[in-house]
Amino acid sequence: MTETKSICCYCGVGCGVIVESDDGRVTGVWKAARPVARHEPHRHGGETVRSCRGAIPRHGPGRHAAARTGEWRFCQGNSRRGEIVIKVRASSELQTAQTFLPMHWGGNFLSGFGCNALTVAAIDPVSGQPELKHAAVQVEKADLPWQMVVLRKNNELSHLLKVQPLLARFPYASVGLVGQDEPVMVLRVAAESPVDGAWLAELDRLLEIDDDLSAMAYHDTRRGISKRILVCDGEVVAARLSGEIAAYEWLKDGMAKGLPVEAVRAWLLAPLAAPPFGAVQRGRIVCNCLNVAENEIQGALAATPDFAGLQEKLKCGTQCGSCVPGIKRMFNQHRIAGATS
Ligand code: FES
Repeated sequence: MTETKSICCYCGVGCGVIVESDDGRVTGVWKAARPVARHEPHRHGGETVRSCRGAIPRHGPGRHAAARTGEWRFCQGNSRRGEIVIKVRASSELQTAQTFLPMHWGGNFLSGFGCNALTVAAIDPVSGQPELKHAAVQVEKADLPWQMVVLRKNNELSHLLKVQPLLARFPYASVGLVGQDEPVMVLRVAAESPVDGAWLAELDRLLEIDDDLSAMAYHDTRRGISKRILVCDGEVVAARLSGEIAAYEWLKDGMAKGLPVEAVRAWLLAPLAAPPFGAVQRGRIVCNCLNVAENEIQGALAATPDFAGLQEKLKCGTQCGSCVPGIKRMFNQHRIAGATS
């Protein structure tokens, strides 16, 4: 009997599996105890949960609000089996009164159980894989005005494991890794009201950003704002922004590329949404394997005549392939927009 490390072919994201074979014939497929691919936490074999497509039975206020702006906002999804708080936005890719929630994000990475909370637990009896699920859901706006983000690099995986038990404390919380060469742990939290100072101090201690000598700090108790930035060897290695998170995107992008503190020291604690020094905001990461962001793809589309050319230029979608449908959609939307303008 031979055991071979492989990748689950179910959805193309790259969960690790062990293929057991005997005399050239496959005799079993098992979840890998460790990820076959790189550091992405959702690639641990067995983390896969199911996608959920839902019909919204009645028009909750959240749906109207999201449809009006198209921006991400916190909403509560309810089905008769359970509920979750997630970020949602209106999408032209779905029919009216439909929702879609991707799989892969269960209780280790979200407060709650991800789309598992809304759907049935049935799985394929042979492969153990869930099928795509449909469920009736209702989506309503969740009022969570207080937000916090924590970015931490250096030992990012162990920091991720440390904060996982904290997720359940909040109505909305997520944790994951971004960045390829220098991964950064990203913890995002939203709640009805700020957490107290003692809890933040404990979090700082847990993530080793409590050293007053090397950390920059800002506190405004009246407005519920507290920030802490840790610098090590001239680089920003940690940022905790609580109560005001305007700088989140450019700090995250910068840290994933190695952000020299001298270039941004004056802005590190400022409520600055635009990146300083005209740095380009990368936007959402579309291809996790190759670390290619939405704005980079949009920028390359204009100069790229076909999909193969786009892949050749940016390499996006050339590894596990799970991002290819999304990139193709962007490519087609760009072509349609060009043809109608
Ligand atoms: S996410 Fe794997 S190739 Fe893009």
